[in-house]
Amino acid sequence: MKKYHIITFGCQMNEHDSENVAGMLEGMGYELSEDPYKADVVVFNTCSVREHADKRFYGMLGQFKKRRDESKDTRIVCVCGCMPQQPRVQEEIKKSFAWVDVVFGTQTIGEFPRLLNDRITTGKKQFSITANSTVVPDEKDSKRLHKHKALVNITYGCNNFCTYCIVPYTRGREKSRSFFDVVNEVKKLAADGVIEVMLLGQNVNSFIDDEGNTFPALVREINKINGLERIRFMTSNPKDLSEDLIDCYRTCDKLCKHIHLPVQSGSSSVLKRMNRRYDREKYIDIIDKLKEACPEIAITTDIIVGFPGESEEEFKDTLSLVEYVGYDSAFTFIYSPREGTPAAGFNDQIPYDVKHERFERLNEIVNNCSLKKNEKLSDKTVKVLVDGASSKDDKSYSGRTDGFKLVNISSGRDIIGQLVDVKITDCKTFSIDGILV
Ligand code: SAH
Ligand code: SF4
Ligand code: F3S
Repeated sequence: MKKYHIITFGCQMNEHDSENVAGMLEGMGYELSEDPYKADVVVFNTCSVREHADKRFYGMLGQFKKRRDESKDTRIVCVCGCMPQQPRVQEEIKKSFAWVDVVFGTQTIGEFPRLLNDRITTGKKQFSITANSTVVPDEKDSKRLHKHKALVNITYGCNNFCTYCIVPYTRGREKSRSFFDVVNEVKKLAADGVIEVMLLGQNVNSFIDDEGNTFPALVREINKINGLERIRFMTSNPKDLSEDLIDCYRTCDKLCKHIHLPVQSGSSSVLKRMNRRYDREKYIDIIDKLKEACPEIAITTDIIVGFPGESEEEFKDTLSLVEYVGYDSAFTFIYSPREGTPAAGFNDQIPYDVKHERFERLNEIVNNCSLKKNEKLSDKTVKVLVDGASSKDDKSYSGRTDGFKLVNISSGRDIIGQLVDVKITDCKTFSIDGILV
């Protein structure tokens, strides 16, 4: 049997695209190879959100080129995802990576089987990128990475145009799937043994289908599905976070007591320059309401430091917001200018060492917060959905609590895919240790 390997660089949506690509390849008779160098078809599913992601991709592509030159291998190399969706990258690929066999974008993913087939039968390189296609990919053949949990796309694209962000240019305009399609998909998943679904979109809470069904209505409907135990969603934008959604934390027992609510900055003036369309006060108001609706809710976030023009005072507003909210954890990023976005052209870019110094200061506060939150679980017994074996040793597994905390569990038996009770023994900054009860 011919083999394939997919390298995924990006976010959960990118990961889910890889599940779709894997499903298409298996439909064509390929099987998974863990080793990229033993695969007949290698797919690079790229991300472009920060410069680091671009660099990793070019580095890995370079390695494949070297192998190809040295060993004259006939492996088919495909590039897809958010990078080739941008004209500057298309030029770069045509110029410096003309040897790549198949290139397709986020919005032409459904064409992949045809492109691969044409490459094989004609020997010609295939290139297919469309911008702003409204065709929603067919989800039914996706190959899930896990048996017990599933990623379910509910919206595609983004209309928000935050001034730092490349995503609206790589994913096109926002489009919601039909309410009933999503509900039916989750029903099928639950019948197939899925315990947890993660509803995905760049801005999930702005979900609204052609019949006017909203995101809170979708959560309530999915909450009724038998067999399913946990509902998560990612990512919500504070500007669209409704009271109705906050109320779901009171009424939907399967909705995990966790929200990932990217704040980006604690300064209203920076938020304005970022075009986030909420301010510090509005964000704090949402946090207060969420805590009131669900006192034990875990809150995580994304923060960017060193956005153009960020003053020391504005940065300190971010630090004080982190202390106020008391995040369970946060992804922190150094601002990375993305060609084609408005902020890349702002003339008050922050010098690298200032960005770095702020990044360190922010991380210290975030990490203290995380440790404090994790320590609250000390000696408690919590439910953990076990994702897989941990790399530590063969008696260790890892999974997530309802509040999305990473737990390493020691257990004498295989517990992968199960929802188990775990007694917490040690709380650290980035993870928690426990033993199976
Ligand atoms: N749709 C999500 C985020 C998608 S991108 C939302 O609106 O919250 C994931 C995170 O990457 C963002 O939340 C942001 O913190 C970070 N990010 C995006 N563009 C960036 C850039 N140019 N530089 C640094 N971080 C960036
Ligand atoms: Fe990017 Fe903003 Fe859209 Fe999120 S909401 S994907 S940060 S433009
Ligand atoms: Fe990256 Fe595209 Fe996701 S740029 S973060 S893979 S939407």
